[in-house]
Amino acid sequence: MKLFLDTANRELIKEWVKTGLIDGITTNPSLLSKEGPNTKAVLLDICNMVPGDVSIEVVKKEPEAVYKQAHQIASLASNVVVKIPFKKEYLPVIKRLVSDGISINATLIFSVIQALLVAKLGVKYISPFIGRWDDIDIDGLTLIEEIRQMLDNYGYESELLAASIRHMIHLHHSALLGADVATIPPNIFDKLMEHPLTVQGIEKFDSDWKKLGKEDLI
Ligand code: E4P
Repeated sequence: MKLFLDTANRELIKEWVKTGLIDGITTNPSLLSKEGPNTKAVLLDICNMVPGDVSIEVVKKEPEAVYKQAHQIASLASNVVVKIPFKKEYLPVIKRLVSDGISINATLIFSVIQALLVAKLGVKYISPFIGRWDDIDIDGLTLIEEIRQMLDNYGYESELLAASIRHMIHLHHSALLGADVATIPPNIFDKLMEHPLTVQGIEKFDSDWKKLGKEDLI
């Protein structure tokens, strides 16, 4: 399973890349807006810091402008994936961009049908937003399960990217349900690193070892 970091913050990316766990980055306009006005420099830095895919979302609205901006974004670096929100008007744009050889992350996916349509167009990633479904009292993880089944039924090659992950249960089940990728905010990533029983276990081993009064093991 690939793990992406869901942030545009360069300090956090720098720290997390050191763990060797980060296969890519997802950004979005909300995340980018927190990093100041020099967005081009921020994005170039991020693309240089991470060996894997960096998703960058279009902010233009009119379809032809989205097409042009997608090309501009893709020309920033070889590891860029252009994020485009699902919208009927953007489907022909996505088709053109895919045939131009540009990697697309179809974002804000909230149904199996939306996922099916973008899979048919050959996008690289499909991003269902689990947490935002939970926010409206619908189990977001069923979306992961059903999109996985749909992709497998037809052998579509698009990768299923579990997005809007809010807690460990989302990651746990996304992994069991066969998501190809999960994008995780840094604060959630932090929580994944500690288990109280592991901490307790280390303390117990330590105190038992100290009773022997010996420093070296061998
Ligand atoms: C994914 O690509 C999005 O950036 C992100 O996961 C959205 O998460 P949110 O619903 O917590 O904003």
